[in-house]
Amino acid sequence: MNISGSVALITGANGGIGSIFVQELLKLDVSKIYACARDVSKLNQLVALDSHRVIPVELNVVNAEAVARVAKDCSDVSLLINNAGTSLNQGLIAAADLEAARLEMELNYFGVLSMCRAFAPVLKAQGGGAIVNILSLLGKINLPFSGSYSASKAAAFSMTQGIRAELMGQGTLVIGVMPGTVNTELAKDWPDPKVEPTEVVKDTLQAVIDGQEDVFPGEQAQQIASQLLTDPKGVEKYLGNFLPGLSLAGL
Ligand SMILES: NC(=O)c1ccc[n+]([C@@H]2O[C@H](COP(=O)([O-])OP(=O)(O)OC[C@H]3O[C@@H](n4cnc5c(N)ncnc54)[C@H](OP(=O)(O)O)[C@@H]3O)[C@@H](O)[C@H]2O)c1
Repeated sequence: MNISGSVALITGANGGIGSIFVQELLKLDVSKIYACARDVSKLNQLVALDSHRVIPVELNVVNAEAVARVAKDCSDVSLLINNAGTSLNQGLIAAADLEAARLEMELNYFGVLSMCRAFAPVLKAQGGGAIVNILSLLGKINLPFSGSYSASKAAAFSMTQGIRAELMGQGTLVIGVMPGTVNTELAKDWPDPKVEPTEVVKDTLQAVIDGQEDVFPGEQAQQIASQLLTDPKGVEKYLGNFLPGLSLAGL
């Protein structure tokens, strides 16, 4: 896909990875970026970069009515980046109740699915375009320390495959991005190694240009992804040592 001249929409644009997406897309000469956030006042610095091209949009992706309204208002989008997400770092059994698991599924799975459904006709009208879903390596292998987050990203990974097949006929490129630990607020308490958000964003935008469907940005993600091909049970057993409430040191 040719990013130059395209119209992009990004959810969670005020976040660690989201804000870098806006900056890098501007460098690639997009004609417009709808920068979405729950609180648009958090977008002031990004809008100040280029107020003609960065359009702030209020959007909570778990609000179905808001998603439908934004899809109607932003009918010229050709590159949809589903980036908003959260991890509450809870175990599946150790958590006090289902609250964290439901919240993560609501945002990381249903929120992304709802965006893809709302924007599929928009992308079709633009000749196909692309959807980028920011998933996680933990969607490929469960880390019990944040077991319910891993499960929500696994659901989103499967959904990304299904959407790719369903939208192939209309020419929409569907990309899944599976980083390891990224240096943002979400992973502030996690140990190194961490990949910088700039590397995640650059690898992802290159994948959009090249038409590459699966992206593993950074050394940690690439290493674990290749171990998963050769020794999936070994990786499962190793990550199984990192239980809820214990330290992640040595991960
Ligand atoms: N950091 C990592 O290690 C890592 C690794 C793999 C994948 N990822 C994925 O990368 C994506 C971006 O995360 P990040 O690392 O950049 O974390 P971040 O800095 O915490 O950003 C998360 C963004 O999501 C937004 N958000 C949360 N709930 C939302 C909702 N209901 N509706 C709309 N926006 C909402 C946040 O907005 P508010 O400011 O309003 O909360 C924020 O803009 C997530 O999908 C995450 O799962 C991160």
